[in-house]
Amino acid sequence: MKNTFWSEKVQSTELLYYSRAEKFNDENKNLWFKYLKIKNGMKILEVGCGGGLFTNMIKRYYPDCEVYGIDIDDNHIEFAKKKCKDLNLDVKYSVADINNLPFEDEMFDLVFSHTVVEHLPFDNFIKEQKRVLKTGGRILIMRVDMIKKNDKPFMNLEEEIGEQFGKLEYNEREAVAKYLEDPDLTMQRLNEYNFKNIKLNFERIVYYSPDTQKNSKVAISQIERNYMTKLKNALFCLESAKNGVQIKEKLLNLLENQYNERLRLYKNKTKLYDFQSSNMIFISAEK
Ligand SMILES: C[S@@+](CC[C@H](N)C(=O)[O-])C[C@H]1O[C@@H](n2cnc3c(N)ncnc32)[C@H](O)[C@@H]1O
Repeated sequence: MKNTFWSEKVQSTELLYYSRAEKFNDENKNLWFKYLKIKNGMKILEVGCGGGLFTNMIKRYYPDCEVYGIDIDDNHIEFAKKKCKDLNLDVKYSVADINNLPFEDEMFDLVFSHTVVEHLPFDNFIKEQKRVLKTGGRILIMRVDMIKKNDKPFMNLEEEIGEQFGKLEYNEREAVAKYLEDPDLTMQRLNEYNFKNIKLNFERIVYYSPDTQKNSKVAISQIERNYMTKLKNALFCLESAKNGVQIKEKLLNLLENQYNERLRLYKNKTKLYDFQSSNMIFISAEK
């Protein structure tokens, strides 16, 4: 039976893919590659790869690597396969559970994940990744540091929008981010699994800052893309929630007002220097 929990109840595949497009863009690539430490010829696996944006980026820059991606959600993998074909890239995708990876022992030089570790018990998360890693191979766990999230709010509207989202009631989403824990605990667990050379790094990635752009077309397209992503997210949440209908009009109006106001101020040359960013945690270790 098909598993489509994530794409139907949490974030649609498209939303996941395009909401990441700003974060994994070419301007930021060196930051990701600094931690991935890829060398040509490596065999690389991403677990919980969603629509495959990250694996595609790797394959574009390291065509000599064999790149694999697995995800439990059928819709994600169907999308990833199609996207990869459209881009003429050879990434090998399959639907699989992290608990049961369809690969031989010691097959990969690098196994990595982005915002997956917080969604399942650590033992389930790690066991199979360790098995498929070569001795001396690296694991890289990337996630957002939500505790220190400190995005600058965009005027009062941001708060009002947050309030509306807070009213939504969901079924079946309890498992999302249920296993979020401090990174030192994750490091202790890797130590218990006999990983070596365990390292922790923090980075802040800025991916929205219209007033710092020299080119006004780029700035305006950032503002537009930001609105589209927020709108898609809101529509998806409204549809998944039991009581979405009750706040739909209000929430969509707030988002539209926020977008119009932001654009008006930009065109009026009022500088806000507002930005969006992610505080990222990188935990790496060797088998
Ligand atoms: C927050 S999303 C991150 C997706 C992608 N890494 C990204 O950052 O865009 C979490 C992903 O983990 C996948 N996932 C959750 N549990 C899984 C499991 N047991 N096995 C494989 N994938 C899983 C979900 O389907 C979803 O695509």
